[in-house]
Amino acid sequence: MIHTTKKNFPSDFLWGSASAAYQVEGAWNADGKGPSVWDIYTKLEGTTYEGTNGDVAVDHYHRYKEDVALMAEMGLKAYRFSVSWSRIYPNGTGEVNEAGLQFYDDLINELMQHGIEPILTVYHWDVPQALMDRYGAWESREIIEDFNEYCITLYKRFGDRVKYWVTLNEQNVFIGLGYRTGLHPPGVRDDKRMYDANHIANLANAKAIQSFRRYVPDGKVGPSFAFGPTYPYSCHPDHILAYENAEDLNNHWWLDIYCWGTYPKVSLNYLQEIGEAPTILDGDMELLAYGRPDFIGVNYYRSGTVEMNPLDGIGIGAMNTTGKKGTSEESGIPGLYKSKRNPHLEATNWDWEIDPEGLRIGLRRLTSRYGLPILITENGLGEYDTLLEGEYVLDDYRIDYIKAHVEACRNAISDGVDLLGYCTWSFTDILSWLNGYKKRYGFVYVNRDEHSEKDLRRIKKKSFYWYKQVIETNGNNLQNIPSEILKEEHQ
Ligand code: BG6
Repeated sequence: MIHTTKKNFPSDFLWGSASAAYQVEGAWNADGKGPSVWDIYTKLEGTTYEGTNGDVAVDHYHRYKEDVALMAEMGLKAYRFSVSWSRIYPNGTGEVNEAGLQFYDDLINELMQHGIEPILTVYHWDVPQALMDRYGAWESREIIEDFNEYCITLYKRFGDRVKYWVTLNEQNVFIGLGYRTGLHPPGVRDDKRMYDANHIANLANAKAIQSFRRYVPDGKVGPSFAFGPTYPYSCHPDHILAYENAEDLNNHWWLDIYCWGTYPKVSLNYLQEIGEAPTILDGDMELLAYGRPDFIGVNYYRSGTVEMNPLDGIGIGAMNTTGKKGTSEESGIPGLYKSKRNPHLEATNWDWEIDPEGLRIGLRRLTSRYGLPILITENGLGEYDTLLEGEYVLDDYRIDYIKAHVEACRNAISDGVDLLGYCTWSFTDILSWLNGYKKRYGFVYVNRDEHSEKDLRRIKKKSFYWYKQVIETNGNNLQNIPSEILKEEHQ
């Protein structure tokens, strides 16, 4: 659609930014925190880029006041953060660690004192190691009740102040990388186990939302999904079929369950035929029906393009975790689809296609299919940044990226999408799970790298000043800013 006039962003639009506990907090064993699976997994040989881990990360745990002050200076309307489950329950269940709750209390209060809406993610991948040891975490139905208890603890403690809640962050990623490609903990490569663990996570999500209705009746809740809308490589019917296969199995498989409580029939039939369908017990579908969210959380970085993959075709290909452009391999499922590089799109140094129109297309698909409001819970550019002499980071490439995606949001709103807000990934630089510290996402540079924590000082990048202007004008002025502004600010 080409609109003659575009709608404005709503006046209460949540201009935000996001992070996750393991990627920013550090303090991995402070004040009674128990280990999460990531505390253990990152210490195993060869699991992460140059052995990086989040022991210190960017030390947000000790510097949250400084970070919130920077958010306030920027005028940020919302900050999405996650709670570390093993900070609250060091053993996964049982005794609550008051110091852990206190940290998030303090963070929430600090945000609210500065007029910043907290968006709380209950789970961003760091399941307590104790639950992995005890029963295999997401592979056991015991986790449904334990996760529910953990959620209720958070609802009771923070439900009076936190309105927006995200249940599971990117279930499709932590389950997919945990149990199919084996790149995340627990490092399993078994599709049947993956679909079973995923079904259990669906049940845990639904149960948590069911409880939410009781404890936070005025709040809004939804999962955040890693959404990559799929394109066919060409209009050849084989490619269209491949696209249908990928869209159904990679997107509808999760989103239909979240929003409708049912698995898409064609994908379920396929998984039943190959013996990988999840084990569904009596009562499961009834529980899943309680999971309908108030909004869909969307984490969008890229679209995906596919063509048909023969039965003897390729399987999982290697990911680019080094930042050497062109090193990721094609990947696919034989008989269904395989990925193709989209010749119309540029890509980052980590081979992620840059496709703002894909965001608009995705938002429209979600709106037409599910009819729910949408909150963009992540979008951003992971790139190398250079700290120049004089404390400058001129990240115009990040400004270009975010600008194009904000424009796509405005177009989507004009198309009829009910968009609640837009959170960039991320506010400060963070630890990128498998890619170390050099793949930077923040508006605020953190002075550390893979080899040294240095002084962890915070330096505002050019994009910081630009996003400030975007927020001030409620998205009406997206013009880049002159680099001289940084010099003035530094004087
Ligand atoms: C999302 C995650 O998958 O993408 C974040 O929710 C993550 O935690 C972000 O950091 C970017 O991915 P990566 O691999 O570049 O860190």
